[in-house]
Amino acid sequence: MKIFSGKIKKTLFVATLSIAVIICILSGFSYGEQRQDTQQLNEQVSQFLKSKKYSWDYLNVPYEDGEILYNLVLKGKHKKILEIGTSTGHSTIWLAWAAAKNGGKVTTIEINKERRTKALDNFRKAGVAQYIEALLGDARIVVRELKGPFDFVFCDADKEWYLQYFLDLEEKIDLGGCYTAHNVLRSYSSEVDRFLEYVKRHPKFKTTIIEGSGEGISVSCRTAR
Ligand SMILES: C[S@@+](CC[C@H](N)C(=O)[O-])C[C@H]1O[C@@H](n2cnc3c(N)ncnc32)[C@H](O)[C@@H]1O
Repeated sequence: MKIFSGKIKKTLFVATLSIAVIICILSGFSYGEQRQDTQQLNEQVSQFLKSKKYSWDYLNVPYEDGEILYNLVLKGKHKKILEIGTSTGHSTIWLAWAAAKNGGKVTTIEINKERRTKALDNFRKAGVAQYIEALLGDARIVVRELKGPFDFVFCDADKEWYLQYFLDLEEKIDLGGCYTAHNVLRSYSSEVDRFLEYVKRHPKFKTTIIEGSGEGISVSCRTAR
């Protein structure tokens, strides 16, 4: 039995072809827009970071350490990022820039209201505000309340709590996720040394240290559950 006549078949064929062409054009547009968005973001963030390279003055990470964090997040395709110690936002901007490219976001915690306000202003100027949730509070309490999971943590706050932050977060870190900490080579704090000893011996994390600016960034990545 002939279900479709020749004419109907032709009409169906033309309709299907037209829909396919429209889909191709629309997806081409959205890909083009996406590329333009990324390019725009790249230009705005890198210009901002370069312009402020030598004027960060609230215990912020040096430029090269920010760049190291950016590359770690990008390379590891991390998306669920937590930072302890925002200050005025230098490292947060590097983390958020990489998170934006990976389709992720950064949650960051700062106890000092004035620094957080300055950070919010910097996030807007750098063009990364939409990728950041900036919490005001005592990280010693907040990290315990955060549900996680996280696939990247950057710890850069009170040194005497370094080990405790890790203990509170280790179970909330995904397999393949990494916990990083700043100033591990130049902290002059025995608590940072205790933290470092702990992560180096941890059977479920592999730890390496990146010298960077000389301050040192420890990178402990979860290898087992
Ligand atoms: C070294 S600075 C962070 C620099 C920042 N990562 C950057 O590169 O811009 C440490 C920050 O941690 C904050 N901080 C110290 N103890 C804290 C706590 N218990 N909870 C939240 N923030 C804390 C300080 O106020 C300070 O701004």
